Amino acid sequence: METVLQTMHKWVQEYIRTFYSDDIEIQRAIVLKEEHTQQVTVLSRELAKHLKLSVHDQILAEMIGLFHDIGRFKQFTLYRTFNDALSENHALLGLKVIAELDFFQELSEADLSILHFAIANHNAKLITATDNSRQLLFAKIIRDADKLDIYRVLEPFLQPSDGTGCNEMFLQSFIHGRQCDYAQIKTYDDRKLVRLMWLYNIYFSWTMLKIVERGYVDKIIDCLPKTPLMEQGVKNLKAYIKAKLKE
Ligand SMILES: [Fe+2]
Repeated sequence: METVLQTMHKWVQEYIRTFYSDDIEIQRAIVLKEEHTQQVTVLSRELAKHLKLSVHDQILAEMIGLFHDIGRFKQFTLYRTFNDALSENHALLGLKVIAELDFFQELSEADLSILHFAIANHNAKLITATDNSRQLLFAKIIRDADKLDIYRVLEPFLQPSDGTGCNEMFLQSFIHGRQCDYAQIKTYDDRKLVRLMWLYNIYFSWTMLKIVERGYVDKIIDCLPKTPLMEQGVKNLKAYIKAKLKE
């Protein structure tokens, strides 16, 4: 397992380099995803270790982190966007890249099915129902690790409300702690509110603590309009976070 992991690291590094470009905009996008991949790889392993998983499972979590966004590089090169709705689902695109790599045959069928499931579900609104508890566990790990790093990536781009506000449906979802449909995002404030709704979908207190400690929650709240519905949603969210951290 350790040897395959090393082969994978080397392959990913070389693969990403093939997308490097002299075009500043493309290069910036590729490096952004390269750094995200590196961070999520480390965070996935850390979380698996925190959960006291076996070394074998820690390595599997690391592999999933390493490959979860492998479809991003083709996606940006083909469509010049990271928006799945405007191009194609980058998780499924990634699975096509993976299907062509011989070294994945070194993994057992069970491990491979976990890896496929976790990657296919990493960017879904909710995890597809499964009876396989291991598929579910690894999907939860990658989703938490991914979100934790996305908060880091987005932080420098956070801007105060531009006055457009959030749509009523999103605010109701937020108040009730539900997830929403990304395709319904219309305003910049909607987009920030979605980042807060994600918190209801964080699985492990380990992740929640890191998100809170790094100040991401308060920074996003500060950048949203302070309407009565929003205040209610924030109050509910804070109570939810407090309970989650006690788990
Ligand atoms: Fe992704």
